[in-house]
This record gives sequence, C-alpha cells and structure tokens, in this order.
Amino acid sequence: MTVGEALRLAEQRLGEAGVDTPRVDAELLLAHVLGVSRTGMHERRSQEAPDEFDDLLERRVRREPLAYVLGEWGFRRLVLHTDARALVPRPETEVVVERCLALLRDETEPRVLDLGTGTGAIALSIADERPDARVTAVDSAPDAVALARENAERLDLDIEVREGDLRAAAEGWDLVVSNPPYVHADEWESLQPEIRDWEPRDALVGEGLHEEIARLASTRLLVFEVGDGQADHVAGALASLGYADIAITSDLAEEDRVVEGRR
Ligand SMILES: C[S@@+](CC[C@H](N)C(=O)[O-])C[C@H]1O[C@@H](n2cnc3c(N)ncnc32)[C@H](O)[C@@H]1O
Repeated sequence: MTVGEALRLAEQRLGEAGVDTPRVDAELLLAHVLGVSRTGMHERRSQEAPDEFDDLLERRVRREPLAYVLGEWGFRRLVLHTDARALVPRPETEVVVERCLALLRDETEPRVLDLGTGTGAIALSIADERPDARVTAVDSAPDAVALARENAERLDLDIEVREGDLRAAAEGWDLVVSNPPYVHADEWESLQPEIRDWEPRDALVGEGLHEEIARLASTRLLVFEVGDGQADHVAGALASLGYADIAITSDLAEEDRVVEGRR
C-alpha cells in the first residue's frame, strides 16, 4: 500500500473509531514512521508505506493517546518522551510555565519546585528557558519519576528529580509550581477514552490539593494550574491563607487556567 492509500485508509478508520482529528492524526503517524515532517510525508505519497504503520494505527484506533503512540510530544521548546507512565503534557500547561518565567524575571538563581512533575514538562521547560534556575522536580509516582529523569538526561538539562509528596513544598523555595490532579472522581466516566482508558488515574483525579499545597508551602511565589471553573475558588483559598498579588490567567481557549500568588 502506498503512503497516499494508507493516509486515506487511516483517516477513515480513525474517524470511525471516534478520534476527533482523524486526518491530522493519520498524517502525524505516517510522518513519524517515515521519519519526516508532515510536508515531507505528502511528498512521499507514492512511496510504499512502512509495515510498522499498521501497529501504530491499530493502537490509535483503540484510542491510545497520540502522544503515547508516537512516544514523544512537543511542549514549549522541548520534545519530551511520553508514555503511559505519566500524563501527556497539555498545551494549556505551557501558560503555567509562561507565568513562572514572568514571576522569576527579576530573580537570580531562583530555587524552583515543580510538585507533581509527571514527564517533567514544567520543570524541564523552566530549566531550559531559565538556565540559572535551580529546579527540583518531585512526584509521588515512581514511574513518573523515572520518565522525568529519562527526559532530563536525554535533553541534558540539569534538574534534580526525586520521589516525594506534597511535603516537599515546605522545604523552602523561591517558587513552587504545581499542576496537581484536579479532576473530580464523578467526572471520570465522562472523560474521553484517551484519558479514561490510558492515562494514569492518580495523575488526574484529586480534590483539594491546591489548598493543601498552598497551606504547606514555604515559598515566596506560588503558581497553580487549575481545572475548569476552579480558579475563583483557588484564588479565594490563597487569599485566606495570606497570599497577596493573587492573579488569574486564562489559557488559549480563554478558560481561567492559572492562579498565582505571593507571600
Ligand atoms: C496532572 S499531573 C501533572 C503532570 C505534569 N506536571 C504536567 O503538567 O504535565 C499530576 C502529577 O502529580 C502527581 N501526584 C499526585 N499526587 C501527588 C502527591 N501527593 N505528591 C506528589 N505528586 C503527586 C501525579 O503522579 C502526576 O504525575
């Protein structure tokens, strides 16, 4: 089968499987197996499609996240290894990093904690974009710690990665950033199969973690990613815990996504 034929077939099968973006996914999978860009893939439409493509297509048809099937995913300036050991880094989390960088603008060699690091996306982006920052990444899941470490080594970014829990926030930092689990347990069944059937549940489901971290934290600056409709509540919690300069920033979809404060 040629690349052109494989593209048409894959788009149809992914559409039937309920994938939201069947055309783009088919293009990215084919480009990946060919080791070229999407444009490069179109230039090879009459070439034979590699056998390896069938396995990847089947995985995506079963609604495995595209990032897991590809094994890598772009986040800000980095390409991170991604697999079922940790949550796929989301585009909205790039705004979290943006706020951290803005708050750190006038700091020298800031000590930064990324609590619940997953792939290491936030910690590694801060280390990449603020090379003088001393960044620590903590996660309670040993699998996530292993993946974040692999990403740090592969990207040659010098961060500390360790297993730990929320108490790490109390160790004394210039900035604590966290995208903690914030999906309510009763929302679980309504989530897309890519999330519900493949991503680690412990990375997603949680309640009250923002408040807990804010209470424990010994830090001058605090930055949180929050779920839809949670920003005002989290901002209120920060105010009652004595934080000042509380601000809410929206993501590209205009959802209130980031809450920050200082104390
Ligand atoms: C929503 S994911 C965020 C992953 C990554 N920071 C990102 O933005 O893509 C939350 C992460 O917090 C970790 N986590 C959950 N509870 C935790 C706890 N009590 N202490 C430390 N990490 C925790 C999970 O294992 C998971 O990797």
